[in-house]
Amino acid sequence: MSRRTRIIVKGAIWGVALLPLLTLFYRYSTDRLGPNPISYATNLLGDTTLRLLLASLALTPLRMMFKISLQMSVRRLLGLFAFFYACLHFTIWIAVDHFFDWNEMMADVVKRPYITVGVLALTLLMPLAATSTTRMIKRLGGKTWRRVHRLVYVIGVLAVLHYLWLAKKGVNDPFVYAGLLAILLGVRLFDWARRGARSRRQPISPTNRLVTIAPSVPPKP
Ligand code: HEM
Repeated sequence: MSRRTRIIVKGAIWGVALLPLLTLFYRYSTDRLGPNPISYATNLLGDTTLRLLLASLALTPLRMMFKISLQMSVRRLLGLFAFFYACLHFTIWIAVDHFFDWNEMMADVVKRPYITVGVLALTLLMPLAATSTTRMIKRLGGKTWRRVHRLVYVIGVLAVLHYLWLAKKGVNDPFVYAGLLAILLGVRLFDWARRGARSRRQPISPTNRLVTIAPSVPPKP
């Protein structure tokens, strides 16, 4: 991706990702948050978190299926915005829904499975946000970093479960998100199985092995 395209893509992400927050401020300042403002704000922030999470999960399937390759920095931006919205979503629950009543909150976490998985999803997002810098990638090493960041699949599943669990009967949106997540994870699984089958079909033959080893053997005088 050229520098120019990267700047355009990143600018578009900033614009689209900040839109829900601006909408919230606008509706708040014009007193248009509806009959249940807390629920409106919580849902808007929760929806945005889920959409950004799915968008970050969509980048690899996009590359696999349509050869559209977006840089690591784009994925990082989407992930960090998802974390930002998850924190705002959680803050409303703590400060506005429960007025910092820690006992009540703990009871809610234990009693309601959708809160339990929501808290788990947010907790798992923390190490991903903390290790998203280039310095942390270097520090952990690519292999460990990739392993840690596979947590995003678990987070995706927990986030969809959270929504499925809390949604009222007759609301179809959570099933749409669950379907999208299944497609995104399915594409990766398919690619992983295909690569596995290919490497099993082409095991390293003794001749190939010699070719691989040969360069490290010093030439005979
Ligand atoms: C990655 C983390 C999370 C994601 C992706 C997420 C996503 C969502 C979504 C999509 C909704 C439903 C929106 C709608 O109905 O339109 C929602 C609602 C809700 N979430 Fe979360 N959530 C997360 C974490 C949390 C946490 C940590 C808590 C609190 C401990 C929480 C509490 C709630 C509550 C109370 C509602 C229902 C609001 C209402 O209907 O009044 N969520 N969340």
